This record gives sequence, structure tokens and C-alpha cells, in this order.
Amino acid sequence: MTDALTLLGNRSPEEFLAHYWQKRPLLIRNALPGFISPISPDELAGLSCEPEVESRLVLERGGPRPWSVEYGPIAESRFAHLPETHWTLLVQECNRYVPELAELRDRFSFIPHWRVDDVMASYAPAQGSVGPHTDQYDVFLIQALGTRRWQISTAPVAEDNFLPDTELCIMRDFAPNQEWILQPGDMLYLPPGVAHYGVALEDCITLSVGFRAPSHAELLSSFAEHRAAQLNPAQRYADPDLKPPAHPGEIAPSALAQVQNILQHSLQDETAIARWFGKYITEAKNDTQREENTPLDENGFLRAFAEHCLLQRSEAARFAFIGSDLFVDGQHYPLSRELVFAAPLLCDQRQWHYAALKEKLQQPAFTSLLTALYNHGYVRFV
Ligand code: SIN
Ligand code: CO
Repeated sequence: MTDALTLLGNRSPEEFLAHYWQKRPLLIRNALPGFISPISPDELAGLSCEPEVESRLVLERGGPRPWSVEYGPIAESRFAHLPETHWTLLVQECNRYVPELAELRDRFSFIPHWRVDDVMASYAPAQGSVGPHTDQYDVFLIQALGTRRWQISTAPVAEDNFLPDTELCIMRDFAPNQEWILQPGDMLYLPPGVAHYGVALEDCITLSVGFRAPSHAELLSSFAEHRAAQLNPAQRYADPDLKPPAHPGEIAPSALAQVQNILQHSLQDETAIARWFGKYITEAKNDTQREENTPLDENGFLRAFAEHCLLQRSEAARFAFIGSDLFVDGQHYPLSRELVFAAPLLCDQRQWHYAALKEKLQQPAFTSLLTALYNHGYVRFV
């Protein structure tokens, strides 16, 4: 049995995608047999104290009012003053700090990498939860330590169904129609919009493999901004065939048709859309910090690669390709015909062994590309 089959409860990725993905929740018992949390509660608390790590504490009790939230970095001393129960610590992008969680993210490669966001980890003592809520993204909730009760409701959630006086979006009324107790290794898949409520029954860690789904508004505004910057300001609305209007106060259908034409012209440019989307979707969050590498020239890079044997993508950098265009961290690398092989090679996998690349490294253009990626901190030696 392959990993993907076990992970999906004896279903093939095709079956899972056809019947569950974005459609209905699925509980998979023992999706990760024998799973042991690759991060401990103490390590998670330690991460939340780091300024570059995005974290938050959700306090049903122990804050100034029920359901308050405190954003990281969390002071180390804060942990000594938390109540015994009823709070949750959440840490985003743990795949960047814990290699096993980067590997875990790879297990979801039956979904395109650009759709995957991060692996978040949460720790909660008994009764800890973030309240009943919905998310706008798909999520795989993996129980990593202890047990958690999950309740869900697949009924539509009214827009005004949220608690007042808290910045968290917690449902005021939640009537679950399904309930499970998850043990380590169990996994619950939820499509966007399904109300869920997970309560720790004891000290517990839950991992969330989260996805990205840009809003239509974000897509439109980002593309328009990108496209507008490329257009020549001298290109203007023009009407050389203008006839005297019956109503000078009217905006005529012919004028509107021309405006629509101008907009459609940009929206039909497939190359412009591909170039923009590749950059847009691989861009890092504004505050992403990347580990710097000491710059090397091509020979230095080859020597270092031969010595370390293993090169890997930085979890802080997103890689994707469209045909012969490689996109890394919002940068576009058009690949020559001889280098086209590098696009899937660099984007589909996360690690590269020197021995496997040795022959390809004979090509100076490939070595130059890897050296450039290395010097930007997008790849590093293990
Ligand atoms: C949690 O890990 O406690 C919350 C995860 C979620 O509900 O999305
Ligand atoms: Co949620």
C-alpha cells in the first residue's frame, strides 16, 4: 500500500479528489499509522516566543474577557500565568522550522504545491479550543498528540452568526451534526465553510495542513496593477469615427463597447496572465525572513554541493513553473530550451541529491541557475 492510499483511508488521490475535495468532510482513522508528534508542546511554546514566527494565543479563559487573543511573539513569562485549561497556542508555518513537518506537507503532493499554504501546529491543554467557526480554506486536521473531540456542522452558517465583543470570528449558535474523537495519527479533512469545533480532551497538539485560495478580488486587483504598470500611458481611449450624439449627456453603447474592448484585450493576454500569476502566487508574505547563504561562484557552488551531497528548497521560498517559465519567490526565470528539464525537477521535489544531478550539472546554464537560486537563499545545503 502506498503512502497516499493510507493517508486517504485506502482511497486513491483520484477518488479523494472526486468525492471529497471541496465537497464534503472526511474522517480518516489512522491516516498516519504510529504517528508521533515531531514537535513537543515546549518546542511549540519556544517557537511562539521568536519574533519572526507568526503565532497567537486564544484564551477562552485567562484573558481580559472570554475569547481574547494575544499575538506573538509571546513573552516566555506569559506561559507561567496561563490557566490550567481553556486556551490554545497556534503557530503558523511550522514546516519552516521542523523538517518533519516539511516532509509531512510533501505527503499532500496529490494537490498542486501552489495550493498548499503551510502546516500550522496548535497546542491546547484540556478544554482548549478556538471556538466553533468556519474557515475559507480547505484543511486537513491531523491529531499529533493527545485526543481532541471534533464536532462539525455541514449546515450553512448565517452571516450574522458570530459572538459579539471578540475579535475572533466565533459562532454564537453551533449545532453539530457529526462528532468524532481523534487520536494521534487520525485526520479530519474539511472543505471550506464547514463549521467545526475542536476541543482538547487532554494536552493535545493538532497539525493543520492549510490551503490557499486567492479571492477573486485579490486576483483582479493584483493582475490589474501588474498589467497597468506594463501599459504605455500614451495608449488612450480613441474615437476617430465619432458621430454627433442625439444626447450629449449619454454614454453611448459604442463607447461602453470600446471600454470593454480595452479591458478584454488585457484579460485575453494568456502570456501576461501566466507571467503575472506565476510571480504573484510564488511571492512570499511581506514579512518573510529568509536565511542568507554566503554567496558562491559556480565552481564554489559545485564543490559545496559535492561535499554536502544534499540540496534542498528553503521552506520560505515558493517554487512553481508554467511551461518553460520558472517562478521562485515572485521572481521569473525564463528557461532556455536546454534548461526546460529544470522546471519540473526544481518545482516537483524539495530535495536533490548530488549524485542524481551530477550529469545535469555538466551544463553550465543549469549550474548557474542553481548557483543563483542558492545565492538568493532559495535553496540550501542540508
Ligand atoms: C486548532 O488547531 O485548535 C484549530 C484548528 C482549526 O480549527 O482550524
Ligand atoms: Co478552523
